[in-house]
Amino acid sequence: MKHWRIEDMDWSRFDGSKVDPAILALVKAASVVERNGLDYAVYLGRVFVGDAPFRQAADNWGVEEVQHGDALGRWAMLADPGWDYWSAFERYRATYHIDSDVDASRRGSRTGELIARCMVETGTSSFYTALAEATEEPVLRAICKQIAADEYRHFKLFYDHMHRYLAREKLGFWARTRIALGRVNETEDDELAHAYHTTNEAEGVAYDHERCIAAYMAHAMSFYRQTHVTRAVNMTFKTIGFKPHGRIASLAARLAFAAMQRRQRRFAARLAANSAPAAHGMSLQAA
Ligand SMILES: [Fe+2]
Ligand SMILES: [Fe+2]
Repeated sequence: MKHWRIEDMDWSRFDGSKVDPAILALVKAASVVERNGLDYAVYLGRVFVGDAPFRQAADNWGVEEVQHGDALGRWAMLADPGWDYWSAFERYRATYHIDSDVDASRRGSRTGELIARCMVETGTSSFYTALAEATEEPVLRAICKQIAADEYRHFKLFYDHMHRYLAREKLGFWARTRIALGRVNETEDDELAHAYHTTNEAEGVAYDHERCIAAYMAHAMSFYRQTHVTRAVNMTFKTIGFKPHGRIASLAARLAFAAMQRRQRRFAARLAANSAPAAHGMSLQAA
């Protein structure tokens, strides 16, 4: 089922001198969020009771997300031998839960759930493309390219199922837009901030949302270029049913990139004013 396997990557090409501490911090955080995909597959299974083809697809999707976590975790342990992916994941699971005990989507409809999934895959496919282009470490670049390709396939999967449900549930343009933008805003909620905290900060340090989301976002947003944002905006327009390559999309892409750069500067300033000690002595400020 999988399109690639961790064992098939050429791990012998790893070059420790090319590891960027800021990218390493992001990879650690991303690894535990990806591994948590299995819980999300359970949630999707409950939301889509009675839709066997989708549930099968969601189970396969969950397996691929876990592989993303395991590949990133293995790479991060090579880059920082003092860090342990498995215990970091246990620490993350102990503090952050996906509520999978549901019988309906928290987005109000199955179409809404699939729109939210399209947005997550839009975010991850652009994130790993940006990381693949930013890193000089050859193994990480290869891993990020494989993951980005998977994330784009995931987008297509949820997009196709979304259209199937849209024909029945008839969610209007504005309702779709509201769900899509709502999911984008949730990026700054607890999931990534907790992931940053449990994978990068020492155990004794108390969780502080503002500090952790600033640390994650200041680094993550710094690797995006206009091309990545343009692609993400096109995918978003496609999801909400708006022409993806028109003049409005290209204007929206330029505005979105400028807004992201402003936001990145604000997070970087917040991070500089309020940072906690990293767990393994890697100074992110030096990055
Ligand atoms: Fe993923
Ligand atoms: Fe994905």
